[in-house]
Amino acid sequence: MKEVPIKDALPKKRPIPVTLASCMDKNGKPNIITLGWEMQTSIKPVMFAISIGYTRYSYECIRDTGEFVVAYPTEDMAEMSVYCGKESGRDVDKFKECNLEPLPAARIKTPLIPGCLANFECKLLHEYETGDHAIFVGECVAAHVSEEKKGRLYIIDGIYDLGGVGTKE
Ligand SMILES: Cc1cc2nc3c(=O)[nH]c(=O)nc-3n(C[C@H](O)[C@H](O)[C@H](O)COP(=O)(O)O)c2cc1C
Repeated sequence: MKEVPIKDALPKKRPIPVTLASCMDKNGKPNIITLGWEMQTSIKPVMFAISIGYTRYSYECIRDTGEFVVAYPTEDMAEMSVYCGKESGRDVDKFKECNLEPLPAARIKTPLIPGCLANFECKLLHEYETGDHAIFVGECVAAHVSEEKKGRLYIIDGIYDLGGVGTKE
């Protein structure tokens, strides 16, 4: 092993599975953010943590509503995942621009994302400050799966610089 600048070692984490999260602003407008930083943190109850930059529109949405949905896109959802990972819900309606019909959730108001392998409805329990991102931890209150037999989308090596996620190389 040789010591390198921290930023030079971070790409070794690739490939990273892509996660989408839907959220909603306080006026009820739905939004989607593309995430690389997501994990399940508990089995009973099932809980998820997502790391959201303080500058993201999604940060405001989740903080204001106390809800989010974690969804796993299929491998053919790369184009919309890229779009939702570089545009902001402050400027565009991502559901509309991606031709996605927001699907009603069972236990929360935030809609599900169609086409994904699974959607997990989460109610926000905790927020932790961590550098330039916040970790939101939510309890899963309902789950939905699709009949899709496709694989999950992974970040394609070389397309994105994960040191500055969302930035085109
Ligand atoms: C592959 C990929 C992974 C990303 N991972 C994260 C992440 O884990 N956390 C985060 O805050 N932003 C992440 N981003 C950047 C956001 O998706 C991006 O800034 C988005 O435009 C924010 O949208 P919003 O302003 O509507 O919330 C990622 C982007 C891409 C393309």
